[in-house]
Amino acid sequence: MIKTANFVVSNADPSNCPKPDRAEIAFIGRSNVGKSSLINMLTGQKGLAKTSQKPGKTQLINHFMINDKWYLVDLPGYGFAKVNVKVKHGWENMISTYLTKRENLCGVFVLIDSRLEPQKIDLEFLLWCGTEGVPTALVFTKADKQSKSKTDQNIHKFLKKTEQIFEEAPDYFVTSAEAGTGKEDLTKFLEELVTE
Ligand code: GTP
Ligand code: MG
Repeated sequence: MIKTANFVVSNADPSNCPKPDRAEIAFIGRSNVGKSSLINMLTGQKGLAKTSQKPGKTQLINHFMINDKWYLVDLPGYGFAKVNVKVKHGWENMISTYLTKRENLCGVFVLIDSRLEPQKIDLEFLLWCGTEGVPTALVFTKADKQSKSKTDQNIHKFLKKTEQIFEEAPDYFVTSAEAGTGKEDLTKFLEELVTE
């Protein structure tokens, strides 16, 4: 159970992140997929991570301390078209450095919009995680936006595509930040990961 959640620090430079002296889990995914909203839902604090209807809200690496014990990290999204090439490369560099060099990182959750058919950009990102050996699981977000059967269909299609990437099917969760769906299951999984 998440009892306390506190903002610690925001960083543009991965090497300035807090001392890697405790387990850490990060959320990543396309801009606007609902990373920050999911952090707020899981922690029960609406304004903890900044959210917006417009993509590109989170621009830094944000550390939150959970239960005075582990870090949960909100990252900027990928695939945000409205930035120039230089900014885009800056973000990519920041995120890839963080994901490959952060020594206390024990899980990276890639968030996928459950409303959509499999998107190339998500599959490419997962492929990159696979080749870099980043420990990945999936979260399908915004499940409140359509029927359960539509969500199930999209997830099925997505998982089928990932068969070419992962030898073993990745762990996955279905969530809604609006409705609180998936809170218990995902929290339990996160807590198991950080105590391993
Ligand atoms: P960036 O920081 O820009 O990369 O975006 P993000 O992935 O952090 O997304 P954010 O949490 O800011 O949410 C984007 C928009 O989607 C906001 O308007 C949220 O209210 C909405 N949203 C997020 N999760 C859900 C959800 O589960 N259901 C619904 N209906 N809306 C959601
Ligand atoms: Mg965000």
